[in-house]
Amino acid sequence: MAAHKPNEVMQHTMETQFWLDRWQRREIGWHLDEINAHLQEHWPRLGLERETQVFVPLCGKTLDLIWLVSQGHRVVGVEISETAVEAFFAEQGLSPRITETPPFRRYQMDELTLLCGDFFDLEPAHLEGVGGIFDRASLIALPPPMRDRYARHLRRLFPSPIDSLLITLDYDQEQMSGPPFSVQPDEVGRLFEDRYRIEALANFDALDDSPNFRRRGLTRLRERVYWLKPRS
Ligand SMILES: C[S@@+](CC[C@H](N)C(=O)[O-])C[C@H]1O[C@@H](n2cnc3c(N)ncnc32)[C@H](O)[C@@H]1O
Repeated sequence: MAAHKPNEVMQHTMETQFWLDRWQRREIGWHLDEINAHLQEHWPRLGLERETQVFVPLCGKTLDLIWLVSQGHRVVGVEISETAVEAFFAEQGLSPRITETPPFRRYQMDELTLLCGDFFDLEPAHLEGVGGIFDRASLIALPPPMRDRYARHLRRLFPSPIDSLLITLDYDQEQMSGPPFSVQPDEVGRLFEDRYRIEALANFDALDDSPNFRRRGLTRLRERVYWLKPRS
């Protein structure tokens, strides 16, 4: 694990357990039984070649993996929960080839590779050839100090920045505790603007689609779609 400070290590362990427990209890309210509409609408704007390999961090069992493959991409996802990865392949009726490549278990099926393990254990070699990133509910899954680590780790994985589609939520963090955490546009800027031009593609009032969050106290919920364009 690429954590250095003891409190980072402790927070990381707690976070990991939190997600494993959520999957164990099947409390996966973030999961969509359909392909993400923002992905389908905005991904083509990135103008990536069909053969481009795409990285999906903290991928869960999202159907977006399937859509990206259907667009001609090779796709690599990372997900810490084995329950999630196994469920993904079982639900798709796919039988991947499984190999042990510590610290990851690698599931491979045609153009799709899922690395079951910790995002923070990824090394640049795992993602060699990747030319695009799709982040939905990944950055916002993490509490504030871990978001800094997430951005730092992405920088280490991709010393040359690559086009990314990023989907966030923001709301009054006083009204609800995460996850999902509120990530305001200024934080997206703080995390990424040294290497990226940040183009805000769309934003929506997402409260009506999230009755659960309304019940938890939210009076405002904004979903935003960004294109992070490499500056170089
Ligand atoms: C909110 S869910 C989003 C999943 C997916 N992006 C989607 O849109 O359905 C966050 C996912 O990240 C996974 N996760 C959390 N921390 C992780 C880590 N350090 N490394 C890999 N996966 C992680 C969790 O198990 C969970 O499936």
